[in-house]
Formats: sequence, C-alpha cells, structure tokens
Amino acid sequence: MFYHKLSEDAELRPLEARQSPELFALIDDNRLHLRQWLPWVDLTRTVDDSRAFIELTLRQFAQSNGFHAGIWYQDELAGVIGHHRIDISNGATVLGYWLGERFQGKGLMTLAVQAFVRHAFEDVKLNRFEIRCAVGNDRSRAIPERLGFKPEGVLRDAEWLYDHFVDHVVYGQLAREYLR
Ligand SMILES: CC(C)(COP(=O)(O)OP(=O)(O)OC[C@H]1O[C@@H](n2cnc3c(N)ncnc32)[C@H](O)[C@@H]1OP(=O)(O)O)[C@@H](O)C(=O)NCCC(=O)NCCS
Repeated sequence: MFYHKLSEDAELRPLEARQSPELFALIDDNRLHLRQWLPWVDLTRTVDDSRAFIELTLRQFAQSNGFHAGIWYQDELAGVIGHHRIDISNGATVLGYWLGERFQGKGLMTLAVQAFVRHAFEDVKLNRFEIRCAVGNDRSRAIPERLGFKPEGVLRDAEWLYDHFVDHVVYGQLAREYLR
C-alpha cells in the first residue's frame, strides 16, 4: 500500500474498506457543495455505497487500470483523487478529484494533482494526462491552469448534472512538455 506526503499536514493514502464510514460522512456533509459539479452525489445514499466505491477502486488498482487515493489533512479525510482509467495502448489517463468544502483554499488538490502527474510521467511513463472540467467550474479549472496544462477544446453537453448538461473544457499535458 502506498503513502505519499504532500506537505507537513497532508498526505495521499489508498482508500480502504474500513474507511467507508469516514468517506460517506464527508460526502454526506458536503452534498450541496459536491452536487454542483459531480453527478454521483445523489446515488451515494448509505455507507454501503461508499464501501462499494472503495472496493471498485481496489479492483481498479489490482487490474492496473490506475488508482484512487484519499487526501488526508491533519489526519482527517479531506477528499479523493483518482484516475478515471489508464489507456495503456495510447499511454494516456484522465483524472478526477474533489474536496470537502472546508478543505478548499489550502492548495491540497494542486499538490495532489501534481503528485499524480509526476507519477504518471516519471514512473508509469505515460504520454498524455487529461483533466476535464465543466466550463463554469472556476476552482477546478484553476488547478490544471496552475500546473501548466493546455486547454485543448470544449466538449459541448459533455456531462448530465441532475437536470442540465454542462460543457467540458479538456486540459491536456504531454510527457514532452512536462519533462522539458
Ligand atoms: C475543485 C476543487 C478540488 C478545488 O479546490 P481548491 O481548494 O480550490 O484547490 P486547491 O486545493 O488546489 O487550492 C487552491 C486554493 O488554495 C490556495 N493555496 C494556498 N496554498 C496554496 C499552495 N501551496 N498551492 C496552490 N494553491 C494554494 C490557492 O490560492 C487557491 O485559493 P483561491 O482559489 O482562493 O486562490 C474543489 O473546489 C472541489 O472539490 N469542488 C467540488 C468538486 C469538483 O468540482 N471537482 C472537480 C470536478 S472536474
């Protein structure tokens, strides 16, 4: 099991089934905040739903299809980050992430994304790293922009969020840009 220190106060750790109550509580306390931009919040109704998600991420890791990690801040679960998938044939991956509302504004996600990017390019030797953000999601868009990703285009009506579609900006970074 991996463990990665992000700062004096924060680290990435894998999610384990025993943490399901903690993960569910974080989601349950942040429904309005998360629901603005994430489509799965209303489908997360009980601790068992969070356990099922964690088990899915453990299978994902076992199948070498990327991994998810909890972001821990001062020993509290603050959010989650993970690969949607790894496309080995094309050397590419897409990342997703979220934080509880009160854990925003500390630079935690920028550090976590930076760690995933470094791992993808330096350890796994992928060629392309992608992050998709809803056009109006300024806080999320600021992360790839801060890390030098290039906006590559807009996908119209890319995601259904409960009662409306949102367009996505695709941000990409290539190994040759990262390593330069
Ligand atoms: C998207 C999301 C993770 C961004 O959170 P965030 O706290 O803004 O991002 P970071 O953790 O990288 O922190 C950046 C903020 O911390 C500040 N900060 C403090 N120290 C910092 C540091 N060392 N490095 C970078 N930023 C730092 C930055 O100035 C910035 O604050 P500002 O926006 O007020 O300028 C969060 O808003 C969220 O979970 N939203 C709901 C779910 C969601 O939208 N997920 C993404 C779907 S694509």
